[in-house]
Amino acid sequence: MDSERSYTVAHLPGDGIGPEVTAVARDLVDQAGRKHGFTVGWSDCPLGSGYYLRTGEVLPGEILADLRKADAVLLGAVGSPGVPPGVLERGLLLRLRFELDLYVNLRPARLRPGVASPYGGSGLNAVVIRENTEGLYAGAGGIVHKGKAFETATEESLNTRAGVERCVRYAAALAARRSGRLTLVHKTNVLVNAGSLWMRVAEEVAAETGVQLDYAHVDAACLYLVSDPARFDVIVTDNLFGDILTDLAAALTGGLGLSASGNLNPDKSGPSIFEPVHGSAPDIAGTGQANPAGAVLSASLMLDHLGETMAAADLDSAVDTVLAEGGATSTGAWAAALSAELSRAR
Ligand code: IPM
Ligand code: MN
Repeated sequence: MDSERSYTVAHLPGDGIGPEVTAVARDLVDQAGRKHGFTVGWSDCPLGSGYYLRTGEVLPGEILADLRKADAVLLGAVGSPGVPPGVLERGLLLRLRFELDLYVNLRPARLRPGVASPYGGSGLNAVVIRENTEGLYAGAGGIVHKGKAFETATEESLNTRAGVERCVRYAAALAARRSGRLTLVHKTNVLVNAGSLWMRVAEEVAAETGVQLDYAHVDAACLYLVSDPARFDVIVTDNLFGDILTDLAAALTGGLGLSASGNLNPDKSGPSIFEPVHGSAPDIAGTGQANPAGAVLSASLMLDHLGETMAAADLDSAVDTVLAEGGATSTGAWAAALSAELSRAR
């Protein structure tokens, strides 16, 4: 007899609306688990603004060690007006991406039935694979002559062959399971060094795997996402381009409230982190207005990554159904509608 499957998931709700939206996602994961025969042991992770302001620490070693033991992390959002910019972004979010080697940032961009997209986006059904540990995010650079007239600030984009290749390979494998088309987005006409490396690696991987490789400069890709979104299926791109493109893709597919992401360690040598693309939205925290769909869809990506593909598909289609019926107007109404849909669906 099969013993029941069980997973340890660290719940890192964070700040602002993070706790509100991840509570909904967590309940739905438990509900899907009861239906599909698995259990999740949740461990609570207190990190975020409150923890930093109380202790002066952003990511203590013991907590990082605990996170490493989890099968996955479900993260809400971090950031609050009381913490200077960069402290939690670099010290927590990026540090986790680097420490856990989460080199793929998976961001689906699909205009779901019933969602009105005021900006276009009709026919958009793509996945953006954003390199997540290198590029301009790597932290190379500095400031010299601070405060002087010629104070100089540099940020260097780091691109390693191995780092680019592992990301492109993930994207090519995904493309092979979908349409067979992969679009590299870069800026090879100006960033001739990094662009050359990305292009050569993408060509090599495409030749080896048989996927059809297209290319678009990042500025043109922004235009096409709006004017001709159907040309994209799987997009692979560097860290900063991916950050920007995925906010645009979110606007085209119903807004940040519906956008999900997975920070993946595809080799599964440690946990991956799943989080809605939106931030902590302190302006609406506590008002019950936050849309939990982005967190729920992130939990769906998490279940898929853990191998619970049927539960993952259930959560995804519950969001589709609720959206097709006009969506919901509060966090609580979303939770009730999604839960009802999950128990109804077979
Ligand atoms: C995102 C966010 C982060 C990023 C910030 C908060 C560090 O914008 O996940 O897209 O730039 O990656
Ligand atoms: Mn972003």
